[in-house]
Amino acid sequence: MQDYYAARAGEYDQIYRKPERQADLRQMEAWLPGVFSGRSVLEIACGTGYWTPFYAPHATRVLGIDSATETLQIARTRMPAARFPQVQLQIGDAYQPPAHDASGLPFEAALAGFWWSHIPLERIPAFLQSLHAVLQPGARVVFMDNRYVPGSNTPIAERDAAGNSYQLRPLADGSVHRVLKNFPSREQLLAAVAPWAYRSQHHVWDYFWALEYELHR
Ligand SMILES: C[S@@+](CC[C@H](N)C(=O)[O-])C[C@H]1O[C@@H](n2cnc3c(N)ncnc32)[C@H](O)[C@@H]1O
Repeated sequence: MQDYYAARAGEYDQIYRKPERQADLRQMEAWLPGVFSGRSVLEIACGTGYWTPFYAPHATRVLGIDSATETLQIARTRMPAARFPQVQLQIGDAYQPPAHDASGLPFEAALAGFWWSHIPLERIPAFLQSLHAVLQPGARVVFMDNRYVPGSNTPIAERDAAGNSYQLRPLADGSVHRVLKNFPSREQLLAAVAPWAYRSQHHVWDYFWALEYELHR
């Protein structure tokens, strides 16, 4: 996964140019700022930072972490410090999130775009536990990801015994990568966050879903 995204960094943003997805993307871009307005946000696996500029001007602070220097480099170009003084980007592991931002305060919100689908099913409870541990009570959390739409998504090539699905994804250099990519149902998502979540909402667009909730106070 990590090697694949490091290699794909330069061509990653092409997925945001798929014509059939444009209407959904505009709606999601318009929705995010209100969710994070006035909050300090931890963005997990921020990648090339496609989503960050839409909500960051409304947030108090943003810390974006990703495992790849290649994607973060693109994110830094997209968000120069002079225009985005509230955004900090650094190498980090989604499974071991930082406890606080640069000012030493805990986070009031978290976002992870197109990350849930890459978490092995068996790691989801521990991932959520470690993420929620670095958020304040009442923090707002958003996960966004793909719905499986035949013809728009790469087909699923195989499934493992735990129920994870895998795609074979080609890159421009001719290499092919086996990538874990799950497509959870509404019920699976709501059940996964139920021990911590308050006011959970499952949003659906044609090509994407989002899970939005607040942590119990
Ligand atoms: C599908 S991309 C999503 C990028 C971005 N959030 C977006 O929505 O465009 C997944 C990202 O996860 C990053 N990644 C993979 N494993 C990671 C890990 N253990 N910790 C942090 N980031 C990771 C990859 O480098 C890649 O940028």
